[in-house]
Amino acid sequence: MTGAPTGREMPKHIAIIMDGNGRWAKARGLPRLLGHRQGVEAVRRTVSAALELGLPYLTLFGFSTENWKRSPAEVSRLMGLLRYFLRKEIAELHSEGVRLRIIGQRHRLPKEVVSLIDYAETLTSGNTRLIMTVALSYGGRDEIVQAARHIAKAAQNQELDADNIDESVFSQYLFTADVPDPDILIRTSGELRISNFLLWQTAYSELIFIDRLWPDFSQSDLEDAIREYHSRDRRFGATTVSNRR
Ligand code: IPE
Ligand code: IPE
Ligand code: MG
Repeated sequence: MTGAPTGREMPKHIAIIMDGNGRWAKARGLPRLLGHRQGVEAVRRTVSAALELGLPYLTLFGFSTENWKRSPAEVSRLMGLLRYFLRKEIAELHSEGVRLRIIGQRHRLPKEVVSLIDYAETLTSGNTRLIMTVALSYGGRDEIVQAARHIAKAAQNQELDADNIDESVFSQYLFTADVPDPDILIRTSGELRISNFLLWQTAYSELIFIDRLWPDFSQSDLEDAIREYHSRDRRFGATTVSNRR
């Protein structure tokens, strides 16, 4: 099917595990870096598609806490690409009304990248059209551990009563405190796993696995994912109206 999905309620938040850059390059006999470069183009297309579809929240998994285990050469090329992307795209994103936010272990990123991120976040902080979150040196378990550590400190300092810690308090200590949980989690490349992405937040997200490699991801894949989402019955553990007898 083609064209923007209509009719049913649109998702508010789509999160994407952008996977398959290396395989895209390998299939063409190219170095992995070229796959990552094409991956950046796919990011650009996806942001445009999200803007066109009026999606309020988009979250992209760019680099995991486990990705530091890759070769130093690949890590450094990925960081270089990130720097290039930020330098080149910040102004355009800002003019489109995108608010850019980075989640993850910022302190592990190269200084220059951190400065660009700080600049981008400040510049775009007043934008509301699309909240674009990019997860860098991000791990879902790490995020939960950090939240637990902050909560423990707050309780120790008597800023928080341990008996009052519930799901909503806990989620306020996550990187995504003011972002709604993803309605849809997409993973490209055919792998059927979460790989430590948004473990807490995707508890009830609709999971959509796409065989296409990330550099080939297009607006129509995003639209198909939304159509697939519309065809699902989200029950959140309850029964549906038609089934409630
Ligand atoms: C996703 O593509 C990008 C990152 C994880 C940084 P990969 O680099 O994982 O590509 P494959 O999975 O090896 O094909
Ligand atoms: C997940 O992809 C991380 C990102 C897309 C940034 P990986 O390629 O690192 O995941 P695994 O190794 O296949 O689980
Ligand atoms: Mg991969």
